Amino acid sequence: MRISVIGCGYLGAVHAACMAKLGHDVIGIDVDERKIAELSSANAPFYEPGLDALLKDVQETGRLVFTTDLAASAGSDVHFICVGTPQKKGENGADLTYVDAAVRGLVPYLAPGQVIVGKSTVPVGTAARLADLVTEHESEAHLVWNPEFLREGHAVSDTLQPDRFVYGVSDGSEDHPSIAVLDEVYAASLAAGTPRLVTDLPTAELVKTAANSFLATKISFINAMAELCEAAGADVTRLADAIGMDDRIGRKFLNAGIGFGGGCLPKDIRAFMARAGELGADQALTFLREVDAINMRRRTRVVELTRELCGDGLLGKRITVLGAAFKPESDDVRDSPALSIAAQLQLQGSVVTVTDPKALSNAARRFPELHYVTDLDTAVQSADVILLLTEWQQYRELDPHQLRQSVSTPRILDGRNVLDPEKWRAAGWQYRGLGRP
Ligand code: UGA
Repeated sequence: MRISVIGCGYLGAVHAACMAKLGHDVIGIDVDERKIAELSSANAPFYEPGLDALLKDVQETGRLVFTTDLAASAGSDVHFICVGTPQKKGENGADLTYVDAAVRGLVPYLAPGQVIVGKSTVPVGTAARLADLVTEHESEAHLVWNPEFLREGHAVSDTLQPDRFVYGVSDGSEDHPSIAVLDEVYAASLAAGTPRLVTDLPTAELVKTAANSFLATKISFINAMAELCEAAGADVTRLADAIGMDDRIGRKFLNAGIGFGGGCLPKDIRAFMARAGELGADQALTFLREVDAINMRRRTRVVELTRELCGDGLLGKRITVLGAAFKPESDDVRDSPALSIAAQLQLQGSVVTVTDPKALSNAARRFPELHYVTDLDTAVQSADVILLLTEWQQYRELDPHQLRQSVSTPRILDGRNVLDPEKWRAAGWQYRGLGRP
């Protein structure tokens, strides 16, 4: 099929490459010339495992091209909307400027029978509004909502082998003409057994925000338990192991630590609350305010714990932060808890050095006042305290005996509870986890 993908950020670049991998002819479109130039030379503008190789692979087939010209979308059977929906400045709601502009820009190029497929995360009600806009222009194209559930760091496999497809169509019926078109797009994954659900438009939009809210709630739940474990002298990691053995609960997303960040979970729960308010259903989501508050408290807790670890205050203490990305296998620093903690410590007079295998240039753009060191051995030299804040594999595998030779004082705060406390204590370290005795 001929496919256009509008918006080539995390979602769109991966989606475009994966659609080409599935055998379609794909045009990736974005207003950002730098991004398009990089993608055209098979370089992902961000770090995502496997994406560079995939881009190279599919571009050699000639099935994937990138352009800044929206007119290139003319003639595509399917147009995927993959632009961002960031948090509005100074407000909780989502900024729909880019989604609206993409659909409005696309309308003149639409032809009968073509399908616009929304993948961006939008407040419920957006799809129906956009569908009306398409109808007003008498394009005889259909608009469907097909939310994306990919995780950064696993984006390629999540796109090629998703857990499920959700197709939101205007009448919610299995007979809607765009369903056969989407089935053809995803034929390979469907044949491999990926389930698909057909819903109406608002349900499809809500599936996405509900899923992210549930994940955020799960993380804040275990972080609330971590607070309690600390107060009671219990171990939240063992507690998570034990409750996670109940199938109904499950162990995934029960890792207590410095909390969630990134470009999705924090802004999605806020936009969800804002939208519920507009719909007069704000009471239904007041619990998400608490989810957000628990999450933000993690960051101040780490600053306090670091102060305790230092013994005599933060002023002038040399602190090395391991990890800047909001999670491992990503160079994304949007709302990164690690960087937020590093910045707070620096404001309180510590001398903070941050290291990360992939995210340092993005981090330096966001927090230019912090000191960044690429080489791990150099970053830890003479540290008074080490904070492990993003659990990259190389940090999980650190040898406490070897690391002890480099630091000034062997003190470590394990912000992701990924180290073995006994091993570190046996090697002479003062170890602190979060919610662990
Ligand atoms: C999230 C969802 O997991 C995806 O399904 C969704 O498609 C995506 O948002 C999106 O809306 O686009 P992502 O932001 O890539 O994906 O990251 P997650 O893997 O969900 O992690 C989010 C944050 O939670 C990270 O900061 C991570 O460190 C933290 N986390 C995760 C925990 O603190 N504890 C856990 O147990 C799990």
